[in-house]
Amino acid sequence: MNIQKLSLRNFRNAIESDIEFSEGVNVICGANAAGKTNILEAIFYFAAGKSFRNCKDRELIRFGNDKSNIAMRFLSGNNSIKMSASFSKGGRRVIKIGESAPLKMTEYIGRFRAVIFTPDHLSLVKGSPENRRRFLDLAICQSFPRYAPTLSEYNRVLAQKNALLKRGNVIDELLMVYNERLASLAAVITVNRKKYVQKLEEEAKKFLFDMSGGKEDLTLSYQTQAGDFETQEELREKYNNLFAEKMHSEKERFLSLYGAHKDDFVVAINKKSARMYGSQGQQRSVVLALKLAEGELSYKLTGEYPVFLLDDILSELDKDRKDYILSKTTGRQVIITGCESEIFESKGNKIFVRDGVVSSI
Ligand SMILES: Nc1ncnc2c1ncn2[C@@H]1O[C@H](COP(=O)(O)OP(=O)(O)OP(=O)(O)O)[C@@H](O)[C@H]1O
Ligand SMILES: [Mg+2]
Repeated sequence: MNIQKLSLRNFRNAIESDIEFSEGVNVICGANAAGKTNILEAIFYFAAGKSFRNCKDRELIRFGNDKSNIAMRFLSGNNSIKMSASFSKGGRRVIKIGESAPLKMTEYIGRFRAVIFTPDHLSLVKGSPENRRRFLDLAICQSFPRYAPTLSEYNRVLAQKNALLKRGNVIDELLMVYNERLASLAAVITVNRKKYVQKLEEEAKKFLFDMSGGKEDLTLSYQTQAGDFETQEELREKYNNLFAEKMHSEKERFLSLYGAHKDDFVVAINKKSARMYGSQGQQRSVVLALKLAEGELSYKLTGEYPVFLLDDILSELDKDRKDYILSKTTGRQVIITGCESEIFESKGNKIFVRDGVVSSI
């Protein structure tokens, strides 16, 4: 997959930017707050249908404006595809491919695929489970587009259940209706995530083994409150029972405490938890291995490498890890941001940004 051109109109701090990308490495250079991450944010929007910064769409619109528009042309196989997204203050965002009618999530997710790696990811191992779930969800959505609406529906029903619990005086029958729906959705989500984690482990293991000179064996184990299961149906039953059993405590706490929104995966190096015992360097290597594995898996599942978006990673990683990631992404399109002088010296297509304005020299 190769991005050819990106156009930003009133997006974040860019008024009107048209950026051409080349195959291979592209380096976006500029001072702090110039607008480098904003460019990656726009690109990744087409992969995820939302910002990787976990913000509201309206925050993407340039201050003082009512509308914003981004468009991107990329090559997927032999097809040149144009995707666009428009945002307006009061209205819904609209995503299109070419001149199509506005598309639903299932119709565009997975068309453009990217792996994003930001300094935030460096805390993937030691950070909260929410970080790990978000990482999995974004990756799974791109390779299995039907996962995205299930996840949205789960979050919607969960929000309704939470609103009900918060009000107090809950009618049990209504809570049971929500619980039943949540159990079905949670089973789909947990099954998909667990399968993905198993595949991810296979790939990430090889990268960590390689990086550590054969010393480190990576394992990932998926954990869910519902316990072990063989089939999706069995898991749905288990979630159902768990929700019924915990109904009282959820009512007492005015909050939904059980479900797929509490899942996690444990990362271990040589069978010891990397979160508890791993050194900072080991944890960083694991994250690198997970991100490279995400790219590899995307290739295996779709037949095409995704675009790698590396935000400020070069200044955050030591030389060995930096060289490792660059060597493992040769031959793919990589878009790197940074403001270090060494980036200026690096190979590849260079893009300069200043106050949201882009130039190629
Ligand atoms: N909706 C918006 N409208 C206008 N400007 C915005 C908007 N949202 C963010 N900005 C501005 O964009 C700039 C940040 O851009 P960005 O995060 O891309 O910087 P960066 O070049 O990645 O910097 P760093 O090197 O520090 O990571 C900030 O100055 C911020 O105020
Ligand atoms: Mg930045």
